[in-house]
Amino acid sequence: MTTGLTIALSKGRIYKETLPLLAHAGIVPKDDPETSRKLILDTNLDDVKLVIIRATDVPTYVQYGAADIGVAGKDVLMEHGGEGLYEPVDLQIAKCRLMTAGPVNAVHDESKRLIIATKFVNCARRYYAEQGKQVEIIKLYGSMELAPLVGLADRIVDLVDTGNTLKANGLEPMEHIADISSRLVVNKAAMKMKHERIKAFMVEIEQAVKERNA
Ligand code: ATP
Ligand code: PRP
Repeated sequence: MTTGLTIALSKGRIYKETLPLLAHAGIVPKDDPETSRKLILDTNLDDVKLVIIRATDVPTYVQYGAADIGVAGKDVLMEHGGEGLYEPVDLQIAKCRLMTAGPVNAVHDESKRLIIATKFVNCARRYYAEQGKQVEIIKLYGSMELAPLVGLADRIVDLVDTGNTLKANGLEPMEHIADISSRLVVNKAAMKMKHERIKAFMVEIEQAVKERNA
């Protein structure tokens, strides 16, 4: 672990929505991950680097201390389990809902096990177990909406924001599993060893979130 700060972010909506929060903490990246092929980005501060990784990999990099801090969706954190991480700030960005969904007006034969396609296997398993329903879960890595259309699954567990993706594919949202937003996550050892630095960073970020929502 270096003395500086390494922050793990994913490209796309999380990066875009985190940039103004970082700016409030005085951190400005020198490159744009949407155009650069670099995976480690320098910033205006010599000892602060950004690592650009897949959204689902953020908790893993932070858990193992390869990054001190990260930004990850609550969906990704619920799926990962959150070991080795603190989750001190709700950034209130990338808001959506984790839901079950299925074909519009579909009737399910209750004598048969539901087949659920999802990339959120752990969340789905937990949710249906809480409902006392025995289901079969099929792991997918994306485009879950396709699964019920081609007979791979009866339902999906996926993120819903506007509902447009479901609608465009003849599906409708069914049960609400969780409200989702992105969280600041911090490696537990880094929180101890770099306490002053990380605490100061967190204060800035919390203030940026408050000001943005004011
Ligand atoms: P990976 O690249 O690992 O497959 P991904 O493609 O899901 O991840 P993004 O689409 O950038 O990555 O999503 C990052 C996070 O943004 C998700 O984990 C979720 O918390 C949130 N999110 C996803 N889709 C939406 C949406 N349509 N509206 C708002 N927030 C969303
Ligand atoms: C997410 C999610 C849904 C979609 C839901 O996908 O897996 O497919 O967004 O958003 P909606 O309810 O507003 O349609 P992804 O991040 O791949 O899609 P996006 O980046 O195009 O939103």
